[in-house]
Amino acid sequence: MEKFNYYNIKNVGETVTISGWVSKVRNLGGLIFIDLRNRTGIMQVIVRPENENYGVACELKNEYVIQVTGKIVERESKNEKLATGEIEVEVENLELINKSKEIPFAITDDTNALEDTRLKYRYLDLRREALKNNFVVRNAITFATRKFLNNLDFLEVETPILCKSTPEGARDYLVPSRVNKGKFYALPQSPQIFKQLLMVSGFERYFQIAKCFRDEDLRADRQPEFTQIDVEMSFVDEDQVMELGENLVADIFKDVKGMDIKLPLMRMKYDEAIERYGSDKPDLRFGMEIHDITEVFTNTEFAVFKNVISEGGVINAIVAKNVADKYSRKEMDKLTDYVKTYKASGLAYLKYGEEVSGSIFKVMSEEEVNAVRENLKVETNDLVLIVSGVYNVVKTSLGALRCKLARDLDLIKKDDYKLLWVVDFPSFEYSEEEGRYMACHHPFTSPKDEDVDKLLTDKAHCYSKAYDIVINGYEAGGGSIRIHDQDVQETMFKALELTEEDIREKFGFFVDALKYGCPPHGGFALGLDRLTMLLTGTDNIRDVIAFPKTASATDLMCECPSNVDEVQLNELGLAIKESKKNEEN
Ligand code: AMO
Repeated sequence: MEKFNYYNIKNVGETVTISGWVSKVRNLGGLIFIDLRNRTGIMQVIVRPENENYGVACELKNEYVIQVTGKIVERESKNEKLATGEIEVEVENLELINKSKEIPFAITDDTNALEDTRLKYRYLDLRREALKNNFVVRNAITFATRKFLNNLDFLEVETPILCKSTPEGARDYLVPSRVNKGKFYALPQSPQIFKQLLMVSGFERYFQIAKCFRDEDLRADRQPEFTQIDVEMSFVDEDQVMELGENLVADIFKDVKGMDIKLPLMRMKYDEAIERYGSDKPDLRFGMEIHDITEVFTNTEFAVFKNVISEGGVINAIVAKNVADKYSRKEMDKLTDYVKTYKASGLAYLKYGEEVSGSIFKVMSEEEVNAVRENLKVETNDLVLIVSGVYNVVKTSLGALRCKLARDLDLIKKDDYKLLWVVDFPSFEYSEEEGRYMACHHPFTSPKDEDVDKLLTDKAHCYSKAYDIVINGYEAGGGSIRIHDQDVQETMFKALELTEEDIREKFGFFVDALKYGCPPHGGFALGLDRLTMLLTGTDNIRDVIAFPKTASATDLMCECPSNVDEVQLNELGLAIKESKKNEEN
């Protein structure tokens, strides 16, 4: 492959042979100008009427594949925007290698083609420079990762894709077995169990760039099939794993972006992240922290707040600086609808303009209005946004509103990266649906030493040796120290209300392995797709996956998932329920 961007004014006079796709072709007064594109960029090619290939050049259309041989010459009119903008190739020989059908959308970075069309013709979409560059970055990340971990004696080991179905939070993708009819493999949600088994095997330092599969509701930063940089180490504690993790991430930033990340990264406890930012993945690129102003309203006459306080709820606020005059009643209604999607019952606000106004101004006493001003250090033209109710709902909705306002008000600087560890996650979270406590991470996550005794008696106050690395409000990775002691593991299973039968059936082999000299161990996994999103500056995970799925988990290009014929189903001993067939038709 000729690296177009290597050629510049210094190469004038050299003869080159270059191949690629016709990106643009113009006929200017008999001279034919061709923008020839390959993976590395664009080179302008010029064909003169007297050239014996002039006829071929006249027939060229976009996306035809050609090869030209010619001399590099200095351009008359230069293009500063192009790496090769000072030169062009004066064609001596031009060969048409292949034609192209008319393409369904123009191959330009500022395309306005629908994403569905682009996904259907993904191989064409990938010809766009901006999209293609994401894969250059992705490759730089995996290359830097392998280099970094190899230097530290990590072994890259592949683990199975056909696995046993084990609970890890999301639903499994299942694969029916032909040989063992009626039985299923599951695709791995992560290599978690295998990497822990490799520690039992004495591998000590493992890594893998691993495909993971999760049948979960998709969002802009989630795909059903994604990739992790998966790491596990033996004889380590939390600090050592986090140090390795942040060194790896800093190395990637340096290698890929030339950016220095200041280490060690800040660490914030989970409880503090929720209290101040309403999220376990706080975006620290802007302020607008959440403040508790419940106390201001201890003696309030305002019935809504009074009720909230009497029911043990909280009143919290964020301050949007210097924008009180920008938000009309209609705008406030929109923000109210927004917080309601996070289950908040409403959004109260105060505008501290020359005079104070706002939805709850009339029901507040002068002391309360002033106390809010003092408490939150409000200045003229600040907008105070208040949510009251149950702690978690208040925090989550204000946390989301804070991020929305930062986007709406353009508070986020380009190329600003704020990294931190969120640590000390709770071991359990209560599931209203299941009516019981579930593992916050997976059931092999070690509790804090001081909480082991509370596992069965005080689940609400048990914390774990788990940590997430958060970058610009994204959970870029996470991990934990694992339980290596079989008694603790059994207590954990008991705490999760798993029966002996469940344990045997789901991870009997794993519990057995713990009995054969399991070293203390821990690790983490970075989301490679998310890391690539962060380093390329896109907020759409599909932009960093070569052949992604849509939000409804379909592949528009391959048209899958798809029906399979009866023969295949019979071989697997499967039949599709009639009701499902009808739904499809
Ligand atoms: P966890 O489930 O937190 O941990 O996943 C690790 C990282 O993987 C990324 N990620 C995803 N990226 C894209 N699409 C998805 N659907 C998706 N789900 C997760 C995130 C996340 O931080 N076995 C543990 C790791 C460990 O404990 O060592 C695990 O899988 O960036």
